[in-house]
Amino acid sequence: MRQTRRKFLVQSALGIGAMPFLAAKIRASAVISSGLAEVFKDDFHLGTAISDATLKSDDSTLLNLIAREFNTITAENAMKWEGLQPSVNQFSWKLADDFVNFGRKNNMLTVGHTLVWHSQTPDYVFKNKASPASREILLKRMQHHIGTVIDRYKDSVAVWDVVNEAIEQGKWRRSEWLKIIGEEYFGKAFAFARDADPTAHLIYNDYNMHNPDKQNFVISQVNKCKKMGITVDGVGMECHATLDEGPPVNEIETAIVNFARAGLKVHISELDVDVLPSAWDYQGAEIDVNYDYSEKINPFKNALPRIVSAKLAERYRELFELFVKHRDKITRVSFWGTTDDESWKNDWPVEGRTNYPLLFDRSRSPKDAYFAVRNLKSQ
Ligand code: XIL
Repeated sequence: MRQTRRKFLVQSALGIGAMPFLAAKIRASAVISSGLAEVFKDDFHLGTAISDATLKSDDSTLLNLIAREFNTITAENAMKWEGLQPSVNQFSWKLADDFVNFGRKNNMLTVGHTLVWHSQTPDYVFKNKASPASREILLKRMQHHIGTVIDRYKDSVAVWDVVNEAIEQGKWRRSEWLKIIGEEYFGKAFAFARDADPTAHLIYNDYNMHNPDKQNFVISQVNKCKKMGITVDGVGMECHATLDEGPPVNEIETAIVNFARAGLKVHISELDVDVLPSAWDYQGAEIDVNYDYSEKINPFKNALPRIVSAKLAERYRELFELFVKHRDKITRVSFWGTTDDESWKNDWPVEGRTNYPLLFDRSRSPKDAYFAVRNLKSQ
């Protein structure tokens, strides 16, 4: 793992997104003997998120599939504040350790997600007994959490999502972090992370990064940090996409180009494609927003119709065509999960639906979308 971490850091310092090997050409009809990451090894790292359920159950079939198909992993929940430090100074490392050990064992690029976020962060963090915590206390807590977590994993984790979802369209999200510390919390988080591991690759992660106001705001904050001597290495564009409602590839492309122009490495960090009808106007990924269930918005309870499966394959094809086109700017493409049954999209933004957003189905077989992506490299 040290090897992978070192290799990644050297490549990213040199500005090389792709892994330095020749791509294999594999036909869709061929028996899958090597994974998708191998197919894209000249282009970017290819990854997935691992859920707590998979880590807890030590699900070896799924873990073997992940080890075969991907060369980078993110913990879906295990490294969030509520998982790592559920109460003041009480750290709970088991799941995160299992996650990092899996990456180490399989020589994978391991991403730490996430250090500072408004969500999945216990209330105590922002409190001092019954009152709100002071700015000073909150900064100390932030520094201590970042320092402790990075220190534990710095031999294995090369990439950190230091700050997550701090920005709404063209302005700061009014999170507790912002309210108590002020906008400097953004730069402070990166500075604390840099102190804890000067060689780590530090990124800002968010959804709806195709939105021009959001992009500009992110870039202006990164530039402000730069002026203060604080380097942000890259951005994570989550890319929670939909089948029919965007974002269109040209808007994703503009974002990739703009971030790269601003000197940032681009990570596609949480890719999935929602195939279900939307019952809302909302297109973000704000996890506190939920909508009521109705049968009308859960039309594929038993199976995904072939025509929708084909549309999904086409959507993934166009996305990967774009990613390959910009392989010089893109360091990593990570899916937000491996098989459809474990996707958060079954329960968000409406609970209890049957969704099909990933490359592997509920029996863990590759879908049409998998082959559409794979075939891009075999023509
Ligand atoms: C989601 C997980 O997938 C769910 O299991 C959890 O209940 C809520 O969080 N943006 C992020 C991710 O950065 O951490 C979120 O993950 C999805 C949106």
